Amino acid sequence: MSTLASFKSYLNSQLHVTLPAPTTKFSNQTIIITGANTGLGLEAARHLVRLDAAKVILAVRSLPKGEAAAQDIASTTGRAGVAEAWPLDLSSHASIEAFAARVNREIPRVDVLIANAGVFMTQFETAAEAGGDEMTIAVNVVGHMLLALLLLPRMRETAAEKGRAGVVTFVGSFTHWMTQFPERKAADILGGLNDKGKARMKDRYYVSKLIQLLTVREFANELTKSTKPGKIVTSVINPGFVATQIMRHEGPLFQIYLRVLRKMLARTAEEGSRTLVHGAEGGEETHGQYLDDCKVGSASGFVLSPEAGDTQKQLWRELAAKLEKAHPGIMQNI
Ligand SMILES: NC(=O)c1ccc[n+]([C@@H]2O[C@H](COP(=O)([O-])OP(=O)(O)OC[C@H]3O[C@@H](n4cnc5c(N)ncnc54)[C@H](OP(=O)(O)O)[C@@H]3O)[C@@H](O)[C@H]2O)c1
Repeated sequence: MSTLASFKSYLNSQLHVTLPAPTTKFSNQTIIITGANTGLGLEAARHLVRLDAAKVILAVRSLPKGEAAAQDIASTTGRAGVAEAWPLDLSSHASIEAFAARVNREIPRVDVLIANAGVFMTQFETAAEAGGDEMTIAVNVVGHMLLALLLLPRMRETAAEKGRAGVVTFVGSFTHWMTQFPERKAADILGGLNDKGKARMKDRYYVSKLIQLLTVREFANELTKSTKPGKIVTSVINPGFVATQIMRHEGPLFQIYLRVLRKMLARTAEEGSRTLVHGAEGGEETHGQYLDDCKVGSASGFVLSPEAGDTQKQLWRELAAKLEKAHPGIMQNI
């Protein structure tokens, strides 16, 4: 899709599409959702509890906020004890490892991971505990892929035992087409993004969502090649433009502009969260796909171009090397 076609499709989606209210049951399933104390994550978790999930783990960086969210979900759905808050800071490899170790100790079954948490940074900040990665890339790209890889063995066991494919779905964004991504020409793309002197922070969130989409497409290819028992499907969801706190770091003038734009175009967090629930339903047809308006959609023209194919492979090699260096043997989990 060209940039103009992507823009038209975005406008049409915001103005004319009513997303279907989710009805598929998640009975007996255990679902982990990151960043579920607010916004899209909170509303998706509420749907999942209402739809009979056995356990929904709200993976949050602030436990008090997570516990308040779990309480809120219990009182609005009438199902107490299903949503549980667990601490997880995606900018810290130690926190991600501790979270995954706890899952392996305490949870015999994991059916779905919704990698939802995200940041929209406007200033360059380094995630000190994530090997010096810039915060947007650390959280939106590296941290979530590390989490997915660490949870894969337990998810495969579940899938093999239940005879149903596990689902790892990442919350992406239509904004992946809003960057020219000049950083892709570097010999070391991820390394270059950690150079504070050259960082284009205006663009960084869009770049992070493009890199996320490209790396998940390659992750899907690797999963397809794997001969391990227990099938996993993976996808990237576009929730559309949604009234949440994601742009909290923007300045006061931009907040005024945003308020107007939201009134004209935005979905509520509940409406947007329907796309997360759709992603969590999985299905063979969603594997490796960009999901839009609760169906398989079309990524940007660049993502589908031969040039992006090379960039995608380069990014995957770099991400795999980075994760393998920090966590030797982790790529064997695929
Ligand atoms: N809203 C939109 O228009 C839109 C459009 C496309 C895609 N998205 C994507 O949707 C996802 C959810 O965002 P949202 O719109 O619901 O925004 P939000 O209301 O700001 O929620 C973001 C969530 O991520 C959590 N988070 C941030 N950094 C984290 C970290 N280091 N470790 C763990 N959790 C962390 C936040 O926790 P705290 O509350 O503690 O900060 C919060 O729970 C994001 O991936 C975003 O990029 C949003």
